[in-house]
Amino acid sequence: MNLLLIGSGGREHALAMHLARSPTVERLYAAPGNSGTAAVAENVALDAADHAAVIAFCARARIGLVVVGPETPLVAGLVDALAAAGVPAFGPTAAAARLEGSKAFAKEFCAEFGIPTAAFSVFDDEAAALAHLAAGIGPIVVKADGLAAGKGVVVARTREEAADAVRAMFAGTFGAAGARVVLEETLMGEEASFFALCDGERAAALGGAQDHKRVGEGDTGPNTGGMGAYSPAPALTPTLQERVMREIVHPTVAGMKARGAPFRGVLFVGLMLTAEGPEVIEFNVRFGDPETQALMPRLAEDLLPWLIACAEGRLPEGAPRMKSSAALTVVVAARGYPEAPKKGGAIRGLESAASIEGVEIVHAGAKVENGAILADGGRVLCVTGTGATLREARDRAYAGVAAIDYPDGFHRRDIGWRALK
Ligand code: AMP
Ligand code: GLY
Repeated sequence: MNLLLIGSGGREHALAMHLARSPTVERLYAAPGNSGTAAVAENVALDAADHAAVIAFCARARIGLVVVGPETPLVAGLVDALAAAGVPAFGPTAAAARLEGSKAFAKEFCAEFGIPTAAFSVFDDEAAALAHLAAGIGPIVVKADGLAAGKGVVVARTREEAADAVRAMFAGTFGAAGARVVLEETLMGEEASFFALCDGERAAALGGAQDHKRVGEGDTGPNTGGMGAYSPAPALTPTLQERVMREIVHPTVAGMKARGAPFRGVLFVGLMLTAEGPEVIEFNVRFGDPETQALMPRLAEDLLPWLIACAEGRLPEGAPRMKSSAALTVVVAARGYPEAPKKGGAIRGLESAASIEGVEIVHAGAKVENGAILADGGRVLCVTGTGATLREARDRAYAGVAAIDYPDGFHRRDIGWRALK
């Protein structure tokens, strides 16, 4: 089967590395891909927003399955357009992608189906939101309703900070995403990411991971797309994972089906592990980045048949087998990330880093120019170490990072601290 993978980040390179090894795959294309996917797939210059162009390419290249990496094309209905053209795809329709595309939708959905999440209110105008804040007590989280690349959330410590965030959102800081604002109670606990494959009716647990959202060591500084991850997440015990499947994933799949928008694809549940149990912080309708970089090396079997089964609505019993080993991913970002990453910095030493036992390098915002690898985004590289234990995985990942010569880059030195403390 020929496969088309949509996206250009570290997640897509990690998926491409795994899928390229599948015996089912004849040709693997990545659109647009990056300098990393170019080594395992054929990059094609396609704009995922141009549905007609993607469909035409699928016909020309006899694509048997499209795997959509990022949320933007899902929310924009790429899978709907492909379905209308008879092209199978792994990923939800636009209606099902609203679980990520609209935080108000996700919260109201949770409330309707009894899925545990923080208490919330939704506001379409600034005055009402500010009045709610003035009447409330305690810290509050302010969220822009729409997609904001992980940046539309303010965990306010004071009422003034919350009010400033509300004003900024209604003033258009996040564009149309902030025309509606969700105010919610602050949940306490450890955060974790959980992934389940869904076929519209059934769900199979893929596994858990923990991300590091803040840019600085000790979880300080602004939020980012994620500075590192590891899998498994010791905090997300097998018992808790079963609870997440029972209390969150299965009710979500059943609820979306009941709403006439069956969810097919990977459901990524952003969790807070509170004293009362796991609660939903957010839903994402795609694989996590960088969680995928830590999940893929742990697969003990080919993921592709599972992706096909999801797309076809015939997920079998059971779940993909995972190795008992651990994986830890360190993100190397361009100096200035997340505000103003420096582009163009030269990167050397990737081959020697990748030759270290148990080290895998994934390219994110990187490009090749005249044979040189240059930074071309905020998160530039991801270095994953695998090992029998998380400690070994971490030591390998950092040995890999140390072998890379990228003077304009930086990374967090404390990835995994929660699990290894
Ligand atoms: P989100 O984009 O919804 O994942 O939010 C970004 C980050 O804000 C999350 O990873 C959490 O660290 C934090 N956050 C969001 N909602 C809450 C909440 N209700 N309580 C505490 N922290 C939250
Ligand atoms: N790492 C978090 C995300 O993919 O949204």
